[in-house]
Amino acid sequence: MRIDILTLFPEMFESPLSCSILKRTQDKGLIDIVLTNIRDFATDSYRKVDDKPYGGGPGMIMMPAPVFDCAEYVQKLSPEKGRVILLTPQGQKFNQEKASQLSKEKRLVLIAGKYEGFDERIRIGLGAEQISIGDYVLNGGELAAMVIIDAVVRLLSGALGDEDSPKDDSFSDGLLEYPQYTRPEVFRDMKVPDILLSGDHKKIAEWRRRQAIERTKKFRPDLLKNGVRTNQNHARQDSNLRPTD
Ligand code: 6GU
Repeated sequence: MRIDILTLFPEMFESPLSCSILKRTQDKGLIDIVLTNIRDFATDSYRKVDDKPYGGGPGMIMMPAPVFDCAEYVQKLSPEKGRVILLTPQGQKFNQEKASQLSKEKRLVLIAGKYEGFDERIRIGLGAEQISIGDYVLNGGELAAMVIIDAVVRLLSGALGDEDSPKDDSFSDGLLEYPQYTRPEVFRDMKVPDILLSGDHKKIAEWRRRQAIERTKKFRPDLLKNGVRTNQNHARQDSNLRPTD
């Protein structure tokens, strides 16, 4: 997979991209992340990329020409045309389902704008979809781009270690993850549930499934309003569960 990031602040990406899984997946050649500075495509000698909104109002708007020229240049860097995504709080809300969809693409082009917004012709002209990471306003799309990249990259096959798998992650089946424990067996009078020490894998799987449902009901009941999805290997276990288990 190739991900192009168009930004006025490429340096913001340096440290997140050079640590942990994002570093490892790049080193392994699973993903190629390319940063391009939108300011290099400014058309005047002041390197101006934003201007006042027509009609008045506060703030500065990203001008269409530098973003357009930058996006066109970037698309030509590789034969595979990228799916163009504009990071903006006006976008569709990002979630695990969206991460999964994006992880199947060969190429993404993420456009992060600073300032109060993009000239509308950028979205229309580039045929861009808009994504937001939540209902709050950030100073720019950079952190949102990093969130999306992080969530997408861990879904690429080979990104996680052999034993790790994103299939049990919270949200992957519409539920929060079951509670996890590691050594020691007793910590400050709190004991690991006996079932996890029993070695009975079938019982453990059933317990985990019940716990996932319970925790979702308790902490994120909003996730359950469309019912529990059973598209994975949980369907058989579900039939053993009473609604209140
Ligand atoms: Cl993608 N951009 C900005 N500026 N703010 C946001 C966002 C994106 N998602 C949530 N808030």
